[in-house]
Amino acid sequence: MSEELKKLRDDHKDFLGDNLENPPLCPLSLFSDWFDAAVRGQELESNALCLSTVGKSGIPSSRIVYLKEMKEETFIFYTNYNSKKGEELDQNPNATMLFFWPKLQRQVRITGLVSKISEQDSDAYFSSRPRESQLGAWASHQSEILHSRAELLSRLTDLAVQFPSDVPRPAHWGGYALLPSEMEFWQGQPSRLHDRVVYERFANSWRTIRKNP
Ligand SMILES: Cc1cc2nc3c(=O)[nH]c(=O)nc-3n(C[C@H](O)[C@H](O)[C@H](O)COP(=O)(O)O)c2cc1C
Repeated sequence: MSEELKKLRDDHKDFLGDNLENPPLCPLSLFSDWFDAAVRGQELESNALCLSTVGKSGIPSSRIVYLKEMKEETFIFYTNYNSKKGEELDQNPNATMLFFWPKLQRQVRITGLVSKISEQDSDAYFSSRPRESQLGAWASHQSEILHSRAELLSRLTDLAVQFPSDVPRPAHWGGYALLPSEMEFWQGQPSRLHDRVVYERFANSWRTIRKNP
């Protein structure tokens, strides 16, 4: 084991977060409050989340993506629809998002079904991106084998010539929205007696339960 990992293993730090004594009825409002607190608390990459998907292989895969919007109870991120995550979501729309805000000792797990957002909404977001990112979305055949970095850069140069002004959105790039069926809020507490509050969608409302830490 590395010395650094050993130091972390032996650091039995205590958690002293706010408690979740009276959780609100709606997990989306609690999420918004926690998200705003993470931004205000200058968490690094507050809107980065770990997205886990499982395709037909049954083997889970995870990666970080950015939360770009919350709309009508959904959590929206953007990516290449032909990527590994895109393929897996085609095969199985169930996914989990995990946020970790270490300064606040908070974790939120959101599970639900993912679907593509409308082409108009993807167009609107794509057009708001810097030109370099727009060209990058065309240049990167995300998740496919790349033989050299030079190959990618040469594609980018060609694309800059092909699209001298406006860059259209590639059909294979756009947004996904996850509609939560379950949201779990974890708040670090002293003596490892952490708070875990789970919201399960039930009819048109939410049922709240607590779980042992
Ligand atoms: C901080 C951070 C933010 C990222 N944001 C995105 C994103 O919003 N969309 C995206 O497609 N990839 C994003 N990535 C790259 C992904 O983690 C991943 O490498 C890529 O989407 C390919 O994943 P896949 O092959 O599993 O589909 C981000 C990576 C990091 C570290």
